[in-house]
Amino acid sequence: DWTMGAYREEMIAKIREQVGDKKVICALSGGVDSSVTGILLHEAIGDQLTCVFVDHGLLRLNEAEQVVAMFRDNYNLNLIHADESDLFLGALEGVSDPEVKRKTIGKLFIDVFQKYADQIEGAEFLAQGTLYPDVIESVSFSGGPSVTIKSHHNVGGLPEKMGLKLVEPLRELFKDEVRALGHELGLPASFIGRHPFPGPGLAIRCPGEITRDKLEILRKADAVYIDQIRKHGLYDEIWQAFAAILPMRTVGVMGDGRTYDYAVALRAVTSVDGMTADYYPFNHEFLGETATRIINEVKGVNRVFYDCTSKPPGTIELE
Ligand code: XMP
Repeated sequence: DWTMGAYREEMIAKIREQVGDKKVICALSGGVDSSVTGILLHEAIGDQLTCVFVDHGLLRLNEAEQVVAMFRDNYNLNLIHADESDLFLGALEGVSDPEVKRKTIGKLFIDVFQKYADQIEGAEFLAQGTLYPDVIESVSFSGGPSVTIKSHHNVGGLPEKMGLKLVEPLRELFKDEVRALGHELGLPASFIGRHPFPGPGLAIRCPGEITRDKLEILRKADAVYIDQIRKHGLYDEIWQAFAAILPMRTVGVMGDGRTYDYAVALRAVTSVDGMTADYYPFNHEFLGETATRIINEVKGVNRVFYDCTSKPPGTIELE
């Protein structure tokens, strides 16, 4: 696509002009926006860029490994894989309120990112994947110049706190344009087309208290569910799909024994922007097959529910 090709060259020239010979840090989340930002910056300034991927222990099955491998295999950029799961899960112990979860994770994220950024001597810039809709949104909320990301994003307030200048190469783009740019930059299609994933990760898909046991069950159930969706060719028709683990145990039978295990809720929605959403109308065959697979393949689950709530009145996430 020649338009994106031209945009890419223009952005690279602008980044070089803004940054000069200074160093830049970038928080990679594994999402499309931060990935495209990191790759574009790397193309513009190479080794002057360091990316930090914070693993908060609330990612999906094998997700951290996949993200790190994608960047190592396809792009030769400086990447720190910060495995801080013990820190985050420790801080979340006993926390069940959804907003307290978000605040705990958001605050720790800033501390952790700061810790790694401090190790990069002379960093003067922070690269951020702010999109045009984020710019509009924060201007209309604050009435002032836009430096903040949406409040529910993890890194809000980070640059001011750290005394860093911002590099925001995607500020003029909409989501579909970022995807096209990602394609232009050689990001694998499977990566570009991934469903959105919230900053607090699995924390908000585990209503009530978060435990390592629950997270492990949740990861496995979610992986089976997504595998089913891909096998049935439905992934790209759905805006977002995921499993959640409910804070309850119910009775079941397995072989000639009684079980008393967790229940899993499956969610899938179609949407344009995440602001409103309709639940996805899977057929019963799909649902039955998926429930059977989850119960057979994931130890600790003996019941599966499908969430038929649209937004409003429900939200997409369970918390
Ligand atoms: P809700 O649940 O509010 O979700 O209907 C709408 C979209 O936003 C995502 N979401 C979040 N993203 N931090 C994020 O980065 C959050 O705290 C958060 N909460 C919800 C959600 O996954 C969906 O795409």
